[in-house]
Amino acid sequence: MISKKMADALNGQVNKEFYSSYLYLSMAAWSQAKNLKGFANWFSIQAQEELGHALKFFKYLEDQGATIRLQAIDAPTATFASPTAVFEATLKHEQFITESIHKLVDQAVAEKDHATQIMLQWFVTEQVEEEANAMDIVQKLKLVGDDPRGLFLVDRELAQRQSSAAE
Ligand code: FEO
Repeated sequence: MISKKMADALNGQVNKEFYSSYLYLSMAAWSQAKNLKGFANWFSIQAQEELGHALKFFKYLEDQGATIRLQAIDAPTATFASPTAVFEATLKHEQFITESIHKLVDQAVAEKDHATQIMLQWFVTEQVEEEANAMDIVQKLKLVGDDPRGLFLVDRELAQRQSSAAE
């Protein structure tokens, strides 16, 4: 059994992960409208992964017999200034999520809640990858600048992303 304070914090993280999914779905819609089909593919898969993250927290709360309280999901941003801006927003959001996960770890450590600490380790590792992926794409887009041929190639690369059942 976990503390009410820990359960409340994890409930908050369920909401953040659902919001992440919503945000990336919004980015997928924006990309599709700009005919950036590779971008749209990347963001759609990202949105699915975020749902998986939300459900991992949900399942953990269930397994711990904690009270689950689903909260309203905020409307995500719908417009972005450019293809680079959409990935800069992705990186910024992932940095925010990393900070949130680290706060949860700090709380679990303070409460000597070993089970929650172990559960959160997967997310600590995952966030390193999430930030690295977003940063890599931001750097490629900055390199490409305003060159439409470069953007075409990045879009083609993003079209290669496949859904991973493990996430
Ligand atoms: Fe669920 Fe992208 O962090």
